Amino acid sequence: MRIFDAVRDMQLQSLSWRAAGWRIAFVPTMGNLHEGHLSLVREAARRGDRVVVSIFVNPLQFNDATDYRHYPRTFDQDRQQLAALGVAAVFAPDETAMYPQGREAVTRVEVPQLTSELEGAHRPGHFTGVATVVTKLFQAVLPDIALFGEKDYQQLLVVRKLGADLNMPVEVAGLPTCREADGLAMSSRNGGLKPAERRQAPELYATLQWVGQQWRAGETDLSALEAAAMARLADAGFAPEYVSVRDATTLRPPRAGAPAVVLGAARLGEVRLIDNLRIGASQPQGAGAVK
Ligand code: PAF
Repeated sequence: MRIFDAVRDMQLQSLSWRAAGWRIAFVPTMGNLHEGHLSLVREAARRGDRVVVSIFVNPLQFNDATDYRHYPRTFDQDRQQLAALGVAAVFAPDETAMYPQGREAVTRVEVPQLTSELEGAHRPGHFTGVATVVTKLFQAVLPDIALFGEKDYQQLLVVRKLGADLNMPVEVAGLPTCREADGLAMSSRNGGLKPAERRQAPELYATLQWVGQQWRAGETDLSALEAAAMARLADAGFAPEYVSVRDATTLRPPRAGAPAVVLGAARLGEVRLIDNLRIGASQPQGAGAVK
């Protein structure tokens, strides 16, 4: 397994693989790998001839400097796991390699429409940071396909739009969220939960499932449903930020008969958790009556 820390070296490797006719499958990460990442890597190996994984904790997407400083960094452990999976290359630049003139000076990529609400509203600047770094990573790795987890659902839609709007010749694939046995979505942030919080944490997913049941049963008063879900999370010890039912493609308010997704974000102690669940189209009795 090759490890590159310079953009040009990564590009040269990818160009030579492409010239040889190999299909490059790319998994962008911020490291601290868990089963969710590893399942993306295994799928990448099925969909490409050479798998590249990036490990870069991107300062541009953190709206909270303390969160950035404390983000877990476990490079040696990550590298061993990736080598065991037969990954061809790890791209692990430092901040200077990614932002040579400083992160404030870098050209930024803005994705309108999808980014002002939900995570965008609670984490100002987050999606500009994600869109900018993903663009730079794609330019360094030159992948044919890039794989993202659906756990960061809004991020996945943002990256898809970015790729389409900027004519990037890369397929953006989304893979289902990996969950612990009790339903908690796997995340690098779960390691920050204290034991009692870890026991409470699956309630976020349970609440989204409950919203899905109500929605499929024909509940049409979305404001009441979302408020009830927030109250349920608060009762379970969370500080909820949002629970919202949206159109699964546009993230606008759901349209009668079109696939919907419920997204939620809540803090448990020091840890901020997000999750989402596809809940299908509204039932006929709700058609046209979505408030
Ligand atoms: O999902 C992540 O880990 C990050 O947002 C990503 C896509 C690697 C960009 O830094």
